[in-house]
Amino acid sequence: MKHLLGIEDLGGAEGIDEVMRLTDSFVEVSGRNIPRVPALRGKTVAWLFYEDSTRTRLSFETAAKRLTADTMNFSVSSSSVKKGESLRDTARTIEAMGIDAIVVRHASAGAPHRISRWVDAAVINAGDGWHQHPTQALLDTYSLRQRWGSLDGRHIAIVGDIKHSRVARSDVWAFTAMGAEVTLVAPPTLLPPSLEGWPVKVSHDLDAVLPTVDAIYLLRMQRERMTEALLPSLREYTACFGLTARRVDALRDDALVLHPGPMNRGVEIAAEVADLPRSLILDQVRNGVAVRMAVLYLLLGAGSDLVAAPAPEPLEGTPRG
Ligand code: NCD
Repeated sequence: MKHLLGIEDLGGAEGIDEVMRLTDSFVEVSGRNIPRVPALRGKTVAWLFYEDSTRTRLSFETAAKRLTADTMNFSVSSSSVKKGESLRDTARTIEAMGIDAIVVRHASAGAPHRISRWVDAAVINAGDGWHQHPTQALLDTYSLRQRWGSLDGRHIAIVGDIKHSRVARSDVWAFTAMGAEVTLVAPPTLLPPSLEGWPVKVSHDLDAVLPTVDAIYLLRMQRERMTEALLPSLREYTACFGLTARRVDALRDDALVLHPGPMNRGVEIAAEVADLPRSLILDQVRNGVAVRMAVLYLLLGAGSDLVAAPAPEPLEGTPRG
């Protein structure tokens, strides 16, 4: 694997499992007093974020630093992009400074694919428009696997604004590749116009689905991507599709709650529900760092034939990067 542009680049269950096993060893590294290994010493990772991000960017940055890679921060808002520089020129300029990987977030679906054709560096998609967000799907899969051991035979409902969600478009393939059954729950206006080829069931009735799931995955209303009024009101959305405290009572006792963040508490998820012990929301963030370490290591480190733990040594002395 040269790039990680979509979850399918991992080639199904076996590739996803390889990332999961590598992540196990990086979770162990992250728990050490000095959570740093020299696995990517001498490699440089650059960020190219054309869209806002809190978790994804900080998490990739932490991951690269824990692997002792050098990092190059590129802030679109203070760069020559503002002077009209094209995506191609920007990507090739950054590459000319000598980098090994570019982590890209962009509002247009396909932007990371295009960059991967222009540069020799490894390209990692950190979210492209409505299209995909593969490392989010990997950290979601990891967080569920950590609780369950395996996703096989589990039933997961993904609820909310599926239409505009790159997270859903990656999660559906990751979860089903690992043996789970997925039901999408949304009003018709928030589903993609066609679900042909999606390995999912669809429901418009959250209350009917709740007692049947092992996990419920909530999505934010991505209003910045909505060009028309798709909902009568947010209040009506919450009444029909929000995970309220009352709806939590309809869940099985051991059913888990996930959300990729950023949350709109009180809309898709009630404020108090997000903090329940069954909520994996902070596990997702925590595991995001180790999953991204695994992805960077696979692309820049040992190569994809490595399955065993990297047996990293803690680093003494001053950290670089
Ligand atoms: C998501 C994103 O940006 O795709 N957030 C994330 O990366 N954790 C989801 C969202 O914006 O709602």
